[in-house]
Formats: sequence, C-alpha cells, structure tokens
Amino acid sequence: MQIVILKDAASVAEYGANIFIEQVNKKADSVLGLATGSTPVALYQELIKANQSGQVSFAESISFNLDEYLGLDGSHQQSYRYFMNEQLFNHIDIKQENTHVPPGDAQNPVDACLEYESAMANKGGVDVQLLGIGRNGHIGFNEPSSGLRSRTRVKTLTKETIDDNARFFSEGEYQPHLSITMGIGTILEAKKIVLLATGENKADAVRDMVEGPLAAICPASALQLHQDAVIVIDEAAASKLAHGEFYKHIESENQKLQSYLAELASQAK
Ligand code: PGA
Repeated sequence: MQIVILKDAASVAEYGANIFIEQVNKKADSVLGLATGSTPVALYQELIKANQSGQVSFAESISFNLDEYLGLDGSHQQSYRYFMNEQLFNHIDIKQENTHVPPGDAQNPVDACLEYESAMANKGGVDVQLLGIGRNGHIGFNEPSSGLRSRTRVKTLTKETIDDNARFFSEGEYQPHLSITMGIGTILEAKKIVLLATGENKADAVRDMVEGPLAAICPASALQLHQDAVIVIDEAAASKLAHGEFYKHIESENQKLQSYLAELASQAK
C-alpha cells in the first residue's frame, strides 16, 4: 500500500482528484469506480472544477458506484443514485447512460447483483476505484465479517452504520437496513484503488486497515492484498499509525524516484 499523509482534508481531496483526472486524460473511456459518503464530496468538487475549466472531459468515461440502499429508488433523496446526480453527474459532461449505481429498487435484487457484476466485466473492469472507510473499517457496505472474496450481493448493515447514516434521514423517515454492495473480491479487481480518509474519527479504522492483520473483521485490511492501493489521509486520520514517519519518508523517496524518472524520460526525447 502507498500511504500518503497530507496536512488536511482539502489536500486529500485535491490529491485524490488528480489521480482521477490523470487517469481520464490518459484513457478517455476509463471505467471509474465511485463512492458516496461525506469524504468524496470535496474530491467531486475538484473534478467538477477541472471539468468546467476544460482540464478534463468525462464525455467518454463510464462509472460504477460501489453500493446502494435496498428499498430506495433513484428519485429518493437519500438514495446513492440521487446523491451521485446531485454531487457529481449533473455538473460534469459524463453521459447519464454511462453511469451505473446498483438498482435499489430491483424487483429481484439477487439477479440484479449478478447483472451488475456482468455489466462491469463487459466494460473491462474498473480502472480506478474510489473508496471511503467506515469507522468500523467497512468499504462500500462490506461490513465487518464480510468475506474477503465476496462479490456484489445483498448485505445487511450494522447498527453502527445505520446510526452513522441516520443524520441524512429526517425523523420518522424510513431508513433501509439492507444494501446492494460490490463485494471485497469485486473491489480488489480494480486495477487501482484510491481510499480517502480524513478526521480523527477515522484514525482507529485507518490503523487497523494499514497496520492490523488481514482480517474480515476489518474489511479495508483486504487492501493489503492489492498491488496498487493508494491510501490518502490527513494528519488526523493518520494520528494512530505507529509508523507514520516511515510512510512519510517512503513518500519523499517515491517523489525523488518520480523526478528522476521524469528527468530520464525528458532526456530520451
Ligand atoms: P463518510 O463514509 O465518508 O461519510 O465518513 C465513509 C464510508 O462509510 O465509507
């Protein structure tokens, strides 16, 4: 894992956004794996700015979101489809038909999961997957104890996740306790993974993901198995890491290597 520790949430968003911008500029028809939650919002704002200023176009891009509440259709204000339209898709030049969110209103949710997997495979799989992390270490809606090789499926939410997300629902409003989520095995097939975490309340989960054992009880620890996972965090989210200084040292060495390679490439021209 590449651990990038930055000073604040704004720097995390900017760093993460640049990975997506570079990816799409390199391959216009990239398949982007997207996420909901509060953490990605600032990254999406960076993508909107970059798109509107002509720095990147998503006209050929394809997206697949990680998860959706089961029982909410896309017009429901708390659905993740609605969130994505509001926070990103309506403000950039991506074609709506190229955006995919698991169907929360599927009549047969089990078949819908299989179809979602096939749709991703038909597009050649995800090039870059964006992730947040839950306080309990979940990625997507893969709650603790999720199989490390799980695929897209119906998943029951923990009480902790339901409580964390209750802030988005008004009092008395129906809040789903089931979801459709890409599995951990599905997520690990992305060619690159970018996980963002900010704030003190993510520090335990970040420590368990990076320095804990590989274990289903911390689903994000599965990223230890991925060959190109970038963990972008602010100082507060990094505050419980035992080896934070070492990760910063690795990053500064990485940067030197990148400058050296860039220099080599420019000499070869
Ligand atoms: P948050 O959610 O960004 O709202 O903290 C992250 C997650 O649960 O994956």
